[in-house]
Amino acid sequence: MSVVVLISGRGSNLQSILDAGIPVSAVISNVADAGGLAIAARRGVPTAVVEHRRFPTREAFEAALANEIDRHAPRLVALAGFMRVLTPGFVARYAGRLVNIHPSLLPELPGLDTHARALAAGARRHGCTVHFVTAQLDHGPVIAQASVPVLPGDTAQTLAARVLVQEHALYPRALRWFLDGLLVIEDGKVRVKGDHAQVVVSDRA
Ligand code: GRF
Repeated sequence: MSVVVLISGRGSNLQSILDAGIPVSAVISNVADAGGLAIAARRGVPTAVVEHRRFPTREAFEAALANEIDRHAPRLVALAGFMRVLTPGFVARYAGRLVNIHPSLLPELPGLDTHARALAAGARRHGCTVHFVTAQLDHGPVIAQASVPVLPGDTAQTLAARVLVQEHALYPRALRWFLDGLLVIEDGKVRVKGDHAQVVVSDRA
């Protein structure tokens, strides 16, 4: 009973998850040429492609996706740069075992282009969040966050790179907590049993 990872792109978070030794039973992409598929294949992790554009409706796509996920009977489904909005029905099917990493300090900056928006807003700090997925996009209970400083002269690219370093450390750690049974949701908030930092403040430039 392990993790199915859903991707759409380059797969650097997937790589960090595999490097950390998280047991991944399959990687599924909605984009046929996603770079992450090659990362998985190189490690002998089974891959599948379920292309959303081949389905007439979001529901039909998600039914095919769920079918592919459920073949592996995963304990956890981890979105890692998976760029499709999921319907409430799909989210309900995996309630409590569907997680995502988002490149902002939620509830700040849900949605796309978070790095450029953080700069435009004059934010002093920016970061990433691992959270349970609920029907409202980028709004579920927060498992862990890591923040970095916004530095003078930052561009969306330099800021994204600084955040990505934190993503690669944070996501595998949060997945491990889940698999070790350490996460408890109380009053809509996630607590980690034991002595584990849910908030990481990095001052690395
Ligand atoms: C990451 O920044 C992740 O937080 C966001 O999409 C990006 C995916 O990057 N959801 P990668 O495919 O893991 O390299």
